[in-house]
Order: sequence, then structure tokens, then C-alpha cells
Amino acid sequence: MEIRKVENYSEMSQTASTIIINTIKHKKSPVLGLATGSTPEGLYQELIHQYNNHVFSFKDVTTFNLDEYVGLGKGNPQSYHYYMKEKLFKHLDINMENVNIPNGTVQHLEKECENYEKSIKEAGYIDVQVLGLGLNGHIGFNEPGTPFSSSTHVVELDDTTRKANARFFTSMDEVPQKAITMGLTTIMHSKKILLLVSGENKAEPLARLINGNISEDFPASMLKKHPNVTIIADKSAFVAL
Ligand code: GLP
Repeated sequence: MEIRKVENYSEMSQTASTIIINTIKHKKSPVLGLATGSTPEGLYQELIHQYNNHVFSFKDVTTFNLDEYVGLGKGNPQSYHYYMKEKLFKHLDINMENVNIPNGTVQHLEKECENYEKSIKEAGYIDVQVLGLGLNGHIGFNEPGTPFSSSTHVVELDDTTRKANARFFTSMDEVPQKAITMGLTTIMHSKKILLLVSGENKAEPLARLINGNISEDFPASMLKKHPNVTIIADKSAFVAL
């Protein structure tokens, strides 16, 4: 894993944006894997800024999001569909037919997972996958204990994860119990992975990732087995190292 220590959140976002824009400029039909949460918001703002400055176009880009809550429709402001539309897609020239986010409102969730996995494969897998780091080491919504061999699946969310994400909802009761997430194998198929880490509250999981063993108890540790991972972390995330 390459580790890039940057000054602050803004530098983390710019560094990630430069790598993504280079991929978009140099690939004919680039495929991006996108994440939600607070961490990539600055990256998305930076991409919009560069797009507005005519640095590049999103028209040939295909995207796959990591995850979505079960039971939240596209119009629900807490859904990841809504997040992605508001924070990125509506500001760009992306063809919405090339945007893929798991649908957590279908009756047959298992079928949705299978189809999602198939679409990623058919797209030739992901060129650059953006990841955030959960406090318990989750990536996407792959909670501790998820087999490294997992493909896209339905998960029961950890209470720690629900609590961490409760800030986006009016009460803890509203945080869904389940989600659909790309699996760990799905993520490992990506050609390049960018793990973004910012802030002191991520210092413990970052230290465990860098110094700890590879174990299913800490899903992010799987990234150590991937040949092309760049961790972009700001100074404050390094306080436990
Ligand atoms: C959430 C998301 C992940 C995200 C992580 C960290 O639960 N499902 O994709 O990377 O937790 O979130 P944040 O960036 O808000 O700390």
C-alpha cells in the first residue's frame, strides 16, 4: 500500500481528485467506484470545480456506488441515491444511464445483488475505487466478520455503524437495519483503490490498518493484499501512529 500523508482534508480531496481526473482523461470508457459518507464530499466538490473549469468531461464515465440502505427510496434525502445526485451527479454532464447504485427498495434483494455484481463484471470491473474507512474497519458496508470472498450482498448493519451514521438522520430509530453493499471480492477486483482517511476519529482504525494483521475481523486489512492501493490520509488521522 502506498501511503500519502497530506496536510489536511482539502489536500486529501485535491490529491484524490487529481488521480481520478487523470484516469478519466486517459481511459476511453472509465469506470469509477464511488463512496458516500462525509469523507468524499470534498473530493466531489473538487471534481465539480474542475469540471466547471472545463478540465474534463464526465460524459463517458460509468459509475458504481459501493452501497445503499435497504428500504430507502431514491427520493429519500438519507438515501445514497439522493446523496450522489445532490453532491455530484446533478452538477456534471454524466449520462445517468451509466450511473449504478444498488436499489434497496426492490422485493428481491438477493436478485438485485446478483444483477449488480454482474453489471460490474460486464463493465470490465472498476478502474478507480474510492473508499472511506469505517470506525470498525468496515469498507462499503462490509462489517467485521464479512468473508473476504464475499460478492455484492445484503448486510445487517452493526450498531456502531448505525450510531456513526445516525448524524444524518433525525433519530437512531430511523437508521435502517440493513443495506446492500459491494462485497470484499468485488472491491478487490478494482484496478486501483483510493482509501481516503481524515480526522482524529479515524486515527485508531488507520493505525490498525497500517500496523495490524490481515484479518476478517477488520475488513479494511484486506486491502494489504491488493497490488494498487493508495491511502490518502491527513495529518490528524496519523495521531495514533
Ligand atoms: C459509511 C459508508 C461507507 C463510508 C464509511 C465512513 O457507513 N457506508 O461507505 O466510507 O461509513 O463514513 P464517513 O466518511 O462519514 O466517516
